[in-house]
This record gives sequence, C-alpha cells and structure tokens, in this order.
Amino acid sequence: MWKKIFGKSENANEENSASLFEQVNKDCLPRHIAIIMDGNGRWATGKGMMRSVGHTAGVKALKRTLKAAIALNLEAMTVYAFSTENWKRPAAEVEFLMKLFSEYLEKEIAEMDSDNVRIKFIGRVDELSPGLKKQIADAEQRTANNTGVKFTVGVNYGGQDEMVRAVQSLAQDVKNGSLEPENIDSKLLESRLDTKELPPVDLVIRTSGDMRLSNFLIWQTAYAEFWFTDTNWPDFDKEKLAEALLDYSQRDRRFGGLNTKK
Ligand code: IPE
Ligand code: IPE
Ligand code: MG
Repeated sequence: MWKKIFGKSENANEENSASLFEQVNKDCLPRHIAIIMDGNGRWATGKGMMRSVGHTAGVKALKRTLKAAIALNLEAMTVYAFSTENWKRPAAEVEFLMKLFSEYLEKEIAEMDSDNVRIKFIGRVDELSPGLKKQIADAEQRTANNTGVKFTVGVNYGGQDEMVRAVQSLAQDVKNGSLEPENIDSKLLESRLDTKELPPVDLVIRTSGDMRLSNFLIWQTAYAEFWFTDTNWPDFDKEKLAEALLDYSQRDRRFGGLNTKK
C-alpha cells in the first residue's frame, strides 16, 4: 500500500533520508482536499502568547501548505478561514482576522499568480468590508485564467447558508416559471452552490484534535474521507500533508458498492 502512494526510491540511503513528502506518488492523489485550519488559538495560548499570534502563524502554515499543493500539482484545495459562526468571537479578534486576510492577499497574490494558482472565495463575501471585497474581486480576476491548483478560501462561509442560498436561487426560477420543481435534481442543486466549478471533496483534513465539520462543505463532503490530527494548524506542514495522503491512499472508498481493493 505504501508503494501505491509513495513511489519506490532508487537507492536504500535515499529511502531512509527522504521525507514522506518527497516520496508521495503524484499519480494517486485526491482530486480535492478540504482543510479545516483549526487550533491557532490553542497553539498560541499554549505558548503563553495572544491568540492573534496563532492566527499570524496560521497564515504561514497556509502558505507552506499551498506551496506543497502546488508541488504536488493538486487539482483543488479548499480551506476554511472564517465561518458564518465566527462572528460570535470578540470584535477585536474578528477585526484582527479580517486585517490578516487583507494583508495575506496583498502580500501573496503576485506569487500565487506566478505559481499559476486560481484563487476563489466562497461564502457571503458580500457582507465583508468594501476594501476586502475589492481585494477579493481583484485577486479572483487576476488569477481567473490560471490553470494550476484551484485554491478556494471560505470566508464568512457556512455550509447551511450556502445550501439556503442555492435553494433560494432554485425557488426564484420556479417562481418566474423557468423551472419545474420535479426537474430539481442533485446536479442542478450542485450547480447553484458556491463550489459549482469544483469536484466533490475527496479528503477532509482537520487539525487540532476536534472531530467535526463545523458547517464546512456539508454537501460536498457527502462521500469524503476524513483525516484528523492533534497537530495545531500553525505546526502543519508538507510532512503532515504527506501523512494524510498516505492514510487516504489506504482507504477503501466503496461509495455504497462493494470492496474496490483486493
Ligand atoms: C482556527 O483557529 C482559525 C479560525 C477559526 C479563524 P481557532 O481560532 O479556532 O483556534 P482554536 O480552535 O481556538 O484553538
Ligand atoms: C472552524 O473552526 C472554522 C474555521 C477553521 C475557520 P472553529 O474553531 O470556528 O470551530 P468550532 O467552533 O470549534 O466548531
Ligand atoms: Mg477553533
């Protein structure tokens, strides 16, 4: 099984010293990875620092992970940056996070563009500040024709909210007579989701030990595999990603059918 995702090394020495990441077999990757980047606060407070320090370190982990996804030539990676529920946090933390998103885009967009990354945002972007909305629109436009990793960021994203908006858009069509209720099927509903251009999620990664979806991609993860680690997000790196990919390669994805692995 190791051989399936980890290509065989040419010599024994290299086998011992090569990192897990270097051995990842790019031919058996999930098409779409979704990451719940959790544990920034715990990472910081565990070191006696402010939660905001954890968020700043979390941005560095995101940069590392995106670089790893680029190196693997992953088709799609979607990350959860801010949920529709995260507005419940103290105003100062919310403000800090919004500023961090803005700085992240400002600093990273040129490099993402030159790395051929196509960035998109999902969620209620319309409720963000005018400045951040403009940065998001500019970033999406700038990278729209890139053909590398489809990098999607959930900001003010909630899976239930996304479903509600999709249903509202279908109901609008029924109301104006362009759609019959009996013609609504899962494909049509999917076409109204924020993720309409993405394949279904194959692998969900959640850091920091909690084992829940927290309202992330509830439709798209219907048949996803889940991988949890106690590592806090700021400590996540390409080796952890490789660990998740190894585990994924050992799963038997039956999709309701019978065994696919001998
Ligand atoms: C994830 O880390 C980042 C966001 C939700 C914005 P947390 O801030 O949730 O960190 P913990 O879970 O409190 O440690
Ligand atoms: C999920 O993390 C949201 C993001 C990572 C952006 P939370 O920290 O908000 O999730 P809960 O509150 O523990 O479920
Ligand atoms: Mg959390």
